[in-house]
Amino acid sequence: MAIRLGDEAPNFTAETTEGPIDFHEWKSGAWAVFFSHPADFTPVCTTELGRTAALQSEFVRRNVKTIAVSVDPLESHKNWAGDIGDVGGTDLNFPIIADESRVVSNLYDMLHPGEGDTSTVRSVFIIDPANKVRLTLTYPKSVGRNFDEILRVIDALQLTDAAPVSTPVDWVPGGRVIVSPALSTADATERFGDVEEVKPYLRWTPQPTV
Ligand code: BEZ
Repeated sequence: MAIRLGDEAPNFTAETTEGPIDFHEWKSGAWAVFFSHPADFTPVCTTELGRTAALQSEFVRRNVKTIAVSVDPLESHKNWAGDIGDVGGTDLNFPIIADESRVVSNLYDMLHPGEGDTSTVRSVFIIDPANKVRLTLTYPKSVGRNFDEILRVIDALQLTDAAPVSTPVDWVPGGRVIVSPALSTADATERFGDVEEVKPYLRWTPQPTV
């Protein structure tokens, strides 16, 4: 069954390049970016995992752990790691799950037979510290993902969890945000100071410090 936003992220055990894990234990207390790639030793995947390694300090700063999965065997992941480091400029610094049995890929509905073969498509799950699924993305095999966008969504989720605001179209960190409809304009002004009412349902305020 498809995994929907708000669902508990299914738990699993798996072999990874950093040893066996129980997923919920591994991510305990942290956010996770759990993403699949079609195959080791392929060009787009190498750039994606290289970029994730290079951005690791940005993920850590946000209390986010990253973990990748494909249906290739553990030895293949380990042999590929050097290429990821060469291409991304940073040694592989997060685990890759070896899902030869496809148990994890099926659990997360990452196998889309219409996309050509029995390898995983480019799925992304952002999962919060309570193990709730907060974002899903599915990209085709030929299109690499934008990991700056993944960081942007994490920033937006963490901000909107911490304050009664939403982020507008094309928001980037530091940009103005939208006051929650749950807050009256008077209460919003008391809380945020500067509130601009464009429509009764659209009220801007500078990004609050949380
Ligand atoms: C790639 O990573 O370049 C790739 C992998 C599978 C299918 C298409 C592209």
